[in-house]
Amino acid sequence: MAVNNQKKSQIISRQRVAERGEVFTAEREVNAMLDLVANECLRPDSRFLEPACGNGNFLTAILKRKLSELRRKYKNSPYDYEKQAIVAIGSLYGVDIMRDNVEECRERLFSIWNEEYTAHCKSEASEEARQAAKFIISRNIINGNALTLMCVDAEGNDTSAPIVFSEWTLISSNQMQRSDYTMSDLLLYNDNSEGNLFALSEEQKEEGGIFLRRYITHYKKVQDYGE
Ligand SMILES: C[S@@+](CC[C@H](N)C(=O)[O-])C[C@H]1O[C@@H](n2cnc3c(N)ncnc32)[C@H](O)[C@@H]1O
Repeated sequence: MAVNNQKKSQIISRQRVAERGEVFTAEREVNAMLDLVANECLRPDSRFLEPACGNGNFLTAILKRKLSELRRKYKNSPYDYEKQAIVAIGSLYGVDIMRDNVEECRERLFSIWNEEYTAHCKSEASEEARQAAKFIISRNIINGNALTLMCVDAEGNDTSAPIVFSEWTLISSNQMQRSDYTMSDLLLYNDNSEGNLFALSEEQKEEGGIFLRRYITHYKKVQDYGE
């Protein structure tokens, strides 16, 4: 599907504004806000969560910043660039209650990622890495209700499935660990202490075994373990 990354109107319809408070943030404001955390936007592993991400105006702008830094840093190393570009896409999380916004956000993120990846890695770019990036995006950008912390159906009504985030961590040269946590657990443990995925410390993760699922695999094969 062709993806439109061009400037869009900030309002789609009066109904959407009234029902969901949907007003997209303009690029200038997005960048002014990101400038306040400019250094974090350069680190590939610095995690961002947007609980009402819309069609991804903030997340796409952060991704562009991260990828441009990687391009500068790994000018002569497509292998390191690829690995870190997977880490970068794995660091961006979003929730939105409107399904079309979630789909558009995912498409925009993948389109930016793929364009940069293909341009930088050229003949060394692989379909497997593209599939890994696509899979990570599909897990990180969630159609859910950030107030009830539940996934929603096409009409925006809560389902019985909780919102679950996957933490993606590069644990050795090319091995990636995925650990799943419910959003409610992450918020419960969020006391602003030092931590990993958003705010969780290693001790808190061990306490009570709150993660739901964990596996380790090559960073290009994260999609080979099903959902
Ligand atoms: C003001 S817009 C902001 C969109 C985006 N953050 C931006 O700045 O461009 C608010 C967004 O919140 C979403 N939203 C409203 N209620 C929500 C809820 N309970 N959970 C998750 N998303 C919600 C809407 O669908 C809409 O996309």
